[in-house]
Amino acid sequence: MSRRPIMAGNWKMNLLQNDAKSLIEGIKSGLKELNKEQLPEIIVAPTYTSLSVVSNMLSECSCGKIALAAQNCHYETSGAYTGEVSVEMLKDIGCKYIIIGHSERRQYFSETDEMINKKAKAILNGGLLPIICCGETLEQRESGVTDEHIASQIRAALSGISNEDIAKSVIAYEPIWAIGTGKSCDAVEANRVIAMIRNVVEELTNSQTAGSIRILYGGSVKPATIEEQMSMSDIDGALIGGASLKSDSFNEIITNSMKVAV
Ligand code: 13P
Repeated sequence: MSRRPIMAGNWKMNLLQNDAKSLIEGIKSGLKELNKEQLPEIIVAPTYTSLSVVSNMLSECSCGKIALAAQNCHYETSGAYTGEVSVEMLKDIGCKYIIIGHSERRQYFSETDEMINKKAKAILNGGLLPIICCGETLEQRESGVTDEHIASQIRAALSGISNEDIAKSVIAYEPIWAIGTGKSCDAVEANRVIAMIRNVVEELTNSQTAGSIRILYGGSVKPATIEEQMSMSDIDGALIGGASLKSDSFNEIITNSMKVAV
């Protein structure tokens, strides 16, 4: 089953509005050089404060090739939740995707599997698509509980969601020890874990749904690593942090990912 690759940039808490504008300009000019037919789906996830400026730039250029994502949302639709942003608000500003369950949110903001499941449901009910992150710590990997831990994160995140909605969702496997460390997970091992995630999705749904859902790898993805990562059977793309903050490296990742026949 062919799944359209995704190259997604998670800008985390970086870039002021002007920096965001320059980055989008740089990405757009890099894309002009590439064969449109073979482009992966490109997603950028700016901070909340740059969503508007980026959204305007994407719609002005009728640049349907780049999709907008938020880095988080709240699961309630509206009300007294100071500091939070709803799915409807993110849809209103032009988002197609919302990243949820990033390890930084789990670690620093105490997000639980239950909250991530509520967010996934709110996103899908609101007509957007979740990018659901999962991943193990170094301690969990060394104690041999990686698969068990990730399977339980995925089962919890997808609980009570229809097969149709699961098929449209995106999962990102991001081993915590590989994030921002410069040390990406070995591609064969990342592919093994991602294939395991696909099996969990199949257990929860059916083979068609498991064959449709796109599962990304994230953790120190660089121009030099992407070709091998994309040559793997189950890796459908990348969620890129540091290397997505400069158009040169992000564009090089996109270009190199396209060297692999899908
Ligand atoms: P790095 O690419 O900087 O390791 O970040 C990965 C990540 O957390 C993307 O969500």
